Amino acid sequence: MKFFLDTANVEEIKRINDLGLVDGITTNPTLISKEGKDFETVIKEICSIVDGPVSAEVIALDYEGMVEEARQVAKWADNIVVKIPMTEAGLKAVNTLSQEGIKTNVTLIFSVAQGLLAAKAGATYISPFIGRIDDMGEDGMELIADLRMVLDNYALDAEIIAASIRHIGHFEATALAGADIATVPGSLFPKLWSHPLTDKGIDGFLKDWEAFQNKQNK
Ligand code: G3P
Repeated sequence: MKFFLDTANVEEIKRINDLGLVDGITTNPTLISKEGKDFETVIKEICSIVDGPVSAEVIALDYEGMVEEARQVAKWADNIVVKIPMTEAGLKAVNTLSQEGIKTNVTLIFSVAQGLLAAKAGATYISPFIGRIDDMGEDGMELIADLRMVLDNYALDAEIIAASIRHIGHFEATALAGADIATVPGSLFPKLWSHPLTDKGIDGFLKDWEAFQNKQNK
């Protein structure tokens, strides 16, 4: 499974990228707006740090507007993926952009039907939002497993990005359900490598070592 970071924060990206664990980045207008810099500046800065795909979302909702914006954004760097919302106009835009060789990530997927349509339209990535499905009292992970089966059954190339991951349980279940990619919020990522028993174990080993040293030095 590939790990993407779901953030536009350059410090978070640098910290985790230095561990060699970042395969790509996803952003959205909410994440960009938190950074207080303009869209193009933030995306270009991220693209200069990370080699893998960087998703940048269009703001237009009409077909012409989306395609025009996508063509501009795609010129900012070689590793740009244009994020397109899952609507009728969005599917049409994905169809056009895929024929032009522009990579797309269809976002806000909440059903198998939406995922299948996006993949058939030529999306490079599809992004089911598991946390938001769970918020509705349904099971987001079931959607990941179902989409995995459908894409495999029909040999569709789109990769599944499990998005709206809120906790470690989501991250682990995503791997078990067969998503190609988990996009993890920058604030959640450090929690993936920590465990209280690891900290307790390190503490215990060091205390025993110190006691041994003190005994030897007597
Ligand atoms: O990748 C999508 C993500 O940014 C949305 O997450 O927690 O707002 O549902 P959330």
